[in-house]
Amino acid sequence: MEAATGPGRLAGRIAIVSGGARGIGRAIAERFVQEGAKVVVGDLLDDELKQVEADGLVAEHLDVRERSDWKRVVDRCIAEFGPPNVLVNNAGVMLAAGIADTDGSEFRNSFDVNVLGAVFGLQAVIPSMRDGGGGSAIIVSSTAAVVGAAGLAPYAASKAANMSLAKSAALELGPLGIRVNSLHPGGVETPMSQGPLFDGFDQDAFYSRLPIPRIAQPAEIAGAAVFLASDDGGFATGSAFFVDGGQLAGPLL
Ligand SMILES: NC(=O)c1ccc[n+]([C@@H]2O[C@H](COP(=O)([O-])OP(=O)(O)OC[C@H]3O[C@@H](n4cnc5c(N)ncnc54)[C@H](O)[C@@H]3O)[C@@H](O)[C@H]2O)c1
Repeated sequence: MEAATGPGRLAGRIAIVSGGARGIGRAIAERFVQEGAKVVVGDLLDDELKQVEADGLVAEHLDVRERSDWKRVVDRCIAEFGPPNVLVNNAGVMLAAGIADTDGSEFRNSFDVNVLGAVFGLQAVIPSMRDGGGGSAIIVSSTAAVVGAAGLAPYAASKAANMSLAKSAALELGPLGIRVNSLHPGGVETPMSQGPLFDGFDQDAFYSRLPIPRIAQPAEIAGAAVFLASDDGGFATGSAFFVDGGQLAGPLL
């Protein structure tokens, strides 16, 4: 099949992608550029951001917990490309803690980054989107939003909050022309899923039992983000989109 020609599906879109220095965020940023969008990547990994810039993307230091950082990222976006009309709240941390043992810090830190960070991201782009006639915001959640994860309650609870946040934001911001959806990957091969938290977990055995029997690559999540950011997803808001290889289709018997 010949490659499609002409403007991409995101021509005219100006996007900010948080947590875009690596993993899923990086893949989304690259795919957005391929589809014609202008993209600013924000992350707190400054060394990785230098590589992102060397690869031709615009990058800016961002700690999603800091409203002043969000303001600087939006200002940079306006200076480089114009007011943002797409936001991908992708930055996230996975913190483990047993409910019987936690002093609460893992929950506070998870909610600070994964939930409040997404709230601050939405807040930062509302004026641009409102004044520009609308926009699309995506909150990267997880399958863990709708099933439990023993030992990972801080993460799973924050991902459920991401899904709920997208719905409330869709209701509040709909009158401004702003769509908000949550995107729920299953297992994706990134530094997060390959980290020490999973040392005792037999990933091959787990994934081999899924309808699509393997872990996903980050680029396989990016297509759903393109859909939600583009006019193709123009009637979608307040929805939860699962891209999980069938992980939640039923019990793994
Ligand atoms: N990898 C998976 O299997 C998987 C599955 C479902 C959902 N997710 C979600 O996808 C998103 C991306 O995860 P990933 O797998 O690419 O992980 P990752 O760890 O590779 O990437 C996360 C990025 O977020 C950044 N980040 C963390 N805290 C930040 C902060 N305070 N401010 C700014 N940036 C910050 C990190 O520096 C990193 O670049 C996360 O929200 C994660 O919960 C991942």
